[in-house]
Amino acid sequence: LWDGVPLAPPDSIFKLTASYKADTNEKKVNLGVGAYRDDNNRPWVLPVVKKATKILLNDENLDHEYLPITGLPEFTAGAAKLILGPNSRGITEGRAVSVQTISGTGANHLGALFLSRFYGWNGAPKVYLSNPTWANHHAIFKNVGIEPVDYPYYDPKTIGLDFNGFIGALQAATPRSVFLLHACAHNPTGVDPTEEQWKTIASVMLEKGHYAFFDCAYQGFASGDLDRDAWAVRYFVEQGVALLVCQSFAKNAGLYGERVGALHVVAPTKEAADRVRSQLSVLQRSEISNPPSHGARLIALILNNGELFEAWKADVRTMAGRIIEMRKELRRLLTDELHTPGNWNHIVEQIGMFSFTGLNAAQSKTMVEKAHIYMTGNGRISMAGLNRQNVGYVAASLDAVVRG
Ligand code: LMR
Repeated sequence: LWDGVPLAPPDSIFKLTASYKADTNEKKVNLGVGAYRDDNNRPWVLPVVKKATKILLNDENLDHEYLPITGLPEFTAGAAKLILGPNSRGITEGRAVSVQTISGTGANHLGALFLSRFYGWNGAPKVYLSNPTWANHHAIFKNVGIEPVDYPYYDPKTIGLDFNGFIGALQAATPRSVFLLHACAHNPTGVDPTEEQWKTIASVMLEKGHYAFFDCAYQGFASGDLDRDAWAVRYFVEQGVALLVCQSFAKNAGLYGERVGALHVVAPTKEAADRVRSQLSVLQRSEISNPPSHGARLIALILNNGELFEAWKADVRTMAGRIIEMRKELRRLLTDELHTPGNWNHIVEQIGMFSFTGLNAAQSKTMVEKAHIYMTGNGRISMAGLNRQNVGYVAASLDAVVRG
């Protein structure tokens, strides 16, 4: 039995966390997984989450009953307002369907599964993914029989957006194609379209009747402002682009292990929304039955209480602010102190949790094997792993690897 089961490679991101933990070198740095750390390299439990947890612990009426199949209503309603905007026509017209999911990955899966069953495919199901994208996107779509194909996104020559290539792909694709878009803080490149570029993307998508599959895992991390980071999604809804949004609270609330997320499908009519909701419920029931309650209760408290909501916004600014400081410091060290060959302005121009350094696979491997600095093979570093104690060592190691 099982002779035919081939050995799979370990996950490209989580294997770095395991290797980092096993490494006994005192200089080791983990720039692999996109998880926030404070300036002392410790996971950060947001102060607002501590407050909300206390409130939950003191609530004598809480029990461990099942949540509804589509999740905690106070959570899904608050989450929809957060991403779509409180006055979104999708919400006021009853066209938004929101389902609680197992964080962003679960939202991507449920969205992909739903499309695989019900999207009116023009030929074999396929999804256009930015080149590059979060590695898991490929696996998630393949799992439900949707073939991933690349669209141009990152231009290594400019270390920026290949806007013309992107638009060209939208124009060349068969009408009604599905395009996965990172709502903000693109993973892994940290390169986002400008508002003007988003407007052009939306208008081509409308013209061609394409479907926007938004993944929003970093709301708040791009600009430090939750509303500003939702701009593209809200604009697309206003323009009437057909879309869904996958939402995660792992990063912006530091609830990685609690798996809190949501899938929002904005349908053309309320009647269509009711049918979509019914089918999402059927799919969810056979997969996870009912979503977990703890994280959703925490987020529901934060989203629906003015004081806690303001406190959360301040916590998000703290995280985004520290990352921006680290970007500035890394660029300063490379450019002004070490005079490292090349231009390092992209470190401060890129946004969100990650920076795409421009290091190739061999250089990234050297960083891991020689310097004990754990980063993915595509040259991505998680800026959140940098702090005032290790940024000097990371800059010196980058300098050494670039000089060969
Ligand atoms: C990452 O890209 O590092 C994070 O999104 C964590 C993950 O699930 O891969």
